[in-house]
Amino acid sequence: MSSAKFITLEGSEGVGKSTQCTLLANAIAGEFGQSLCLTREPGGTALGESVRSILLETTLPPMDAMTELLLMFAARAEHLSEVIRPALNAAQWVLCDRFTDASYAYQGGGRGLGADAISILENLVQNELRPDLTIILDLDVDIAFRRIENRGQTDRFDREKREFFEKVRQVYLRRAKQFPDRIVIVDAAASIEEVHGAVREIVRKRLL
Ligand SMILES: Nc1ncnc2c1ncn2[C@@H]1O[C@H](COP(=O)(O)OP(=O)(O)OP(=O)(O)O)[C@@H](O)[C@H]1O
Ligand SMILES: [Mg+2]
Repeated sequence: MSSAKFITLEGSEGVGKSTQCTLLANAIAGEFGQSLCLTREPGGTALGESVRSILLETTLPPMDAMTELLLMFAARAEHLSEVIRPALNAAQWVLCDRFTDASYAYQGGGRGLGADAISILENLVQNELRPDLTIILDLDVDIAFRRIENRGQTDRFDREKREFFEKVRQVYLRRAKQFPDRIVIVDAAASIEEVHGAVREIVRKRLL
């Protein structure tokens, strides 16, 4: 059995996932001394990055929610087969910026597809594989909006209304209650360094 760990970072738009992934990746590869594969969804492979551009493109006509869900899982199937499973099999830790909890939150909650369709796809595409640890960065939707505004460029999800992100946030919070052994919530309102400290300590306590 490989002791390699699979960690995912989750949370609604602009909460600081990518910022924290970079910092955590440095800590895992540096002070924790683990070989690490840092990746993201949708994306992580050439096919996945192409699917990502379709999903985030703002000039295409609106997409059916089920199409969106299936594209996410198509990219995920490729990601698992090309990147995630090979890395774990080679005893590398995997840190992924968003994973299947995002499908529950965005397509299940935000788009209103519910959890059942997603659960079927999760079992089909992942079999038994689930992250060892998922950290959800939780932040007031209005504060997250302000962070995105400062960043400039927007994508197809950034343009959704406040209500959409409120639903996304609520699903994340619900899933943390449902899977307390796997999911930990971190308050993302603090400074980048403080959030990083909290994230790093959770990884140390739970996985080392
Ligand atoms: N703790 C923080 N306090 C203040 N600003 C922050 C904090 N964390 C990140 N930011 C800033 O907020 C913006 C969004 O951060 P980041 O891109 O990491 O979020 P994200 O969750 O990856 O967003 P997305 O969902 O769009 O991928 C960036 O400009 C980043 O520098
Ligand atoms: Mg990001």
